[in-house]
Amino acid sequence: MKGKFYVVGVGPGDPELMTLKATKLLERCPVWLAPKGKKDGESTALSIVEGVVPSANKEIITHYFPMKKIHMGRKPDAEVEQAWKKAAGFVVDKLKNGQDVVFPTLGDPAIYSTGFYVCETLLEMAPDIHMEIIPGVSSIGASAAAASQPLCLGDDRLVVIPATFENGYLREILLTFDTIVLMKVHRVMERIVGLLEELDLMDKAVLVERSSQNTQRVSRNISDCLGRQTHYFSTVIVRKS
Ligand SMILES: C[S@@+](CC[C@H](N)C(=O)[O-])C[C@H]1O[C@@H](n2cnc3c(N)ncnc32)[C@H](O)[C@@H]1O
Repeated sequence: MKGKFYVVGVGPGDPELMTLKATKLLERCPVWLAPKGKKDGESTALSIVEGVVPSANKEIITHYFPMKKIHMGRKPDAEVEQAWKKAAGFVVDKLKNGQDVVFPTLGDPAIYSTGFYVCETLLEMAPDIHMEIIPGVSSIGASAAAASQPLCLGDDRLVVIPATFENGYLREILLTFDTIVLMKVHRVMERIVGLLEELDLMDKAVLVERSSQNTQRVSRNISDCLGRQTHYFSTVIVRKS
């Protein structure tokens, strides 16, 4: 296969947080495959890229990836798997044509990104494929920066976990580690606030919404968010020390 597939981290929202490497690659590659989480929605990753790289001469495909829970080691939902296969099929066609394809992804590709599922599906379809992962600034770092606090220092132990886990497991994690980064909190804030209250950790928690974006919001009294819809781009950092 002549073309190459790139999964490129484009940072947490502020286009100025895109790396020089990501910017150059997007400028150079003729085809962009941009993920979106809603059928009739837009691709956030694409809108970040378009803040820096002109897209007029690019072939851009925005592809819908359903946002459903994926359990590692278990077969994914059929609709989800279908979306990966469709995306991978599209990439294979382009690569066979000798075109390089870029998959821009929010934050860093190594952290809960659809990009890696597409890579795995591609490898199953075409084991001789050439691909490369370009790291990006993660929303975890951006959220800590927005809150002006470190994630870990000295012998601190840091854990990153989706807040969608059930309370028993989250309680254990919150009791064990020094800094706990809770991602995907937007639909479960009420439950998380209840748990933090129970464990007397409310004054150690900060909620960061849309870090690095114009609408960024940092809340130290996180119960303030109850009764309103928190954005999908929301992260809670609990730092005990
Ligand atoms: C599917 S994960 C993608 C993470 C991404 N790969 C990264 O490195 O940041 C989506 C979750 O990342 C977090 N997130 C993404 N962008 C964010 C932002 N700008 N500010 C705060 N949290 C964000 C939220 O917890 C959201 O539910």
